[in-house]
Amino acid sequence: MTKYDNNFTDQLRERLSIVDVISRRVPLVKKGQNYWGCCPFHNEKTPSFSVSEDKGFYHCFGCGKHGDIISFTMESEHVDFKTAIAELADMAGLKLPEYKPKSPEQIESEETYITITTAAAKIYAEKLFAPEGAHALSYIRGRGFSDEMIKKYGIGYAPKNNIIANKFVNTKQDKLIATGLVRRGEYGMYDFFRDKLMFPIFNARGQIVAFSGRSLDGSEPKYINTTDTEMFHKRQTLFGFNFARESIHRANRAIIVEGQIDAIQMQCNGFGETVAPLGTALTEDHIAILCKANRNIIFCFDGDGAGQKAAARACGIILPFLRDNSDVRFAFVTGGKDPDEILRKSGRADMEKIINSAVPLVDFLWQITNKNYVINTPSGRVQAEKFLKSQIDKITDRLLKSEYENEYNSRKFNEWHKWKKSPETPHIEVPEIDNIIKKNLIYIVNKYPEIAERYGDFISKFNLDLDSSVQSDCDFDLKTAEKYIISLKIQKYIESLEQQKRDLTLRGLSGENDVSQEIRRIDNEINKMREKFDLLV
Ligand code: UTP
Ligand code: MN
Repeated sequence: MTKYDNNFTDQLRERLSIVDVISRRVPLVKKGQNYWGCCPFHNEKTPSFSVSEDKGFYHCFGCGKHGDIISFTMESEHVDFKTAIAELADMAGLKLPEYKPKSPEQIESEETYITITTAAAKIYAEKLFAPEGAHALSYIRGRGFSDEMIKKYGIGYAPKNNIIANKFVNTKQDKLIATGLVRRGEYGMYDFFRDKLMFPIFNARGQIVAFSGRSLDGSEPKYINTTDTEMFHKRQTLFGFNFARESIHRANRAIIVEGQIDAIQMQCNGFGETVAPLGTALTEDHIAILCKANRNIIFCFDGDGAGQKAAARACGIILPFLRDNSDVRFAFVTGGKDPDEILRKSGRADMEKIINSAVPLVDFLWQITNKNYVINTPSGRVQAEKFLKSQIDKITDRLLKSEYENEYNSRKFNEWHKWKKSPETPHIEVPEIDNIIKKNLIYIVNKYPEIAERYGDFISKFNLDLDSSVQSDCDFDLKTAEKYIISLKIQKYIESLEQQKRDLTLRGLSGENDVSQEIRRIDNEINKMREKFDLLV
C-alpha cells in the first residue's frame, strides 16, 4: 500500500481523538476506561464495539473488527486510504501534504538517522563518566540527579572536540548532517554540540530524534537544541512525553512545566505525568498532542511576570480544544523560581500544594480579565467584555461555549455592577508558602545578623520562631539573602496595594465616591513595583 510519510499519519493520530472521529457515526457511551456503542460493521442491538481513547483503537468483541481512525474512516465510509486521510486532515484542521509514498530510501534514511542519534547518545553517556566529563557530572549531580536518573534520561556529555564527526568518519556525510549533530564548515566537519551537558530528546515512540545541550561555563544561550530536522520538529515536541504517557493515563491528567530539568525532577518526584515544551512558548501542536492523551491539563508556570504572560497565552491557545470533559487549570510557582527549586528546597509536599491550588480555566480567564481592565468604569467594562467575548468565541464546542457565556453573564451581573452589596473581588490564589518563607527568613536571620538588624521591622512582621530548629536548604550568600528580603518586601508591598485597590473598588461600586483616579494611581504604583521586582529576580 502506498503511504503518506509517517509523520503526517502520526500527526493525525496525535491530533484527533478516536472518540471524536467515531462518534460522528456511532453514538458512544463511556463505561469504565472505554467508550461503547453498537458496531457499525455488523448487525447488533447490544453494544459490543469498544473504543479506547488513550490507545487510539477500536475493537468489536462481536465481529472482531479492529483498527484506528484511519481504518475506521476507510471502512465505515468505504473510501480509499487517500480519501480517508484527506477527510481526517480536514477534521483536524491540517493541510494535506503532497501525497507521497514513503520510499524504501526514506525508510532507510530514517533508520540510519535513529541509528546515528542512538549511537551518539551512547557516546555522550560514556563521556559523562570519563575524566573530560568530570565537570559535567559534578554539575548534574549537584542538581540532584542520581545515577539512576542520569541513566533513565540518557544524560551525557559532549566533549570540546568533534567527537561525533570523528567517530562517524565512515558514515556518509549527508546522513550525519541530516541529524543536526554535525555541520560542514570551511575546514571540514565539526560537531554542533561541544562542551555541553546533553539531554536526548525522544519522540513519542521513544526514539532519540534530537538533543538539548546545556552550557556548563555560564555562556549564553543557556540551552541549545538540535535545529529542526526531518525527524525533529521543536514546536511539535514535548520533552518527557514518552516517559509521561503511562502516568498521564494513570493520573488522568498532564502537567506542563516550563523547563526540561523541571520536567525531569517532577517526573522523579511523584509527578510522572509532567512534560515541558522545548525552549519555545507553548504551541497549538503541543496542546493538540496533550489533549489527545488526556483532556485534563494543569499548566504550572514560574511565578515571575514571564510565567503570568505565558499562562495568559496558553489560556488563549487551549480554548478551541476544550470539551465538556476537560479540566484545565493554571498553577503558579511561588516560594521559589521553578518546580525544580521547590522540589529540592521545600520538597514534594509544597509542590503538591502548588499543584492543588491551581485555578480552573473559567476562573483564570475571569481573573485576567478583571486584572487587565478597569472594570469599575463603563468603558473599562466594555473593553473587558470585548476581550472576554473574543476568548469565548474560540471555544468550538457549541454547548460549552454557551455555558461559558452564561457563566460570565452571571458573574458580570453579580460582580461588576453596583446593586450587588458585596461583590466578590478577584484574586489569584496563592498556595500556602508562608512556611517556606519563614524557613528561609530564620536561616537568614541566624546567619546574617547584620541583615536582621537592617530589616528588623519588616522581618518581625512574620512572627518567626527563631529558636525552632527548622532546616532550611537554601544557602544564600549575603548578597542573595539581601536580595531575597528586598524582593519579599516588594512582594508584600504589592499585595498591600492590591488590597487597597480592592477596598477602593468596593467603595466605588457602592457609588459613594469617584475612585477611578485613585485606582489609577495605585495601578501605576503596582506596575512600578512589578518592574522593580522583575529587575531584581
Ligand atoms: P529557564 O532559563 O527558565 O531554565 O528556561 P532554568 O530553570 O533557569 O534552567 P536551568 O534549570 O538553570 O537549567 C526554561 C527552559 O527554556 C528553554 C529550555 O528548554 C529550558 O529548560 N531554554 C532556556 C532554551 O531553550 N534556551 C535558553 O537559552 C534558555
Ligand atoms: Mn531550573
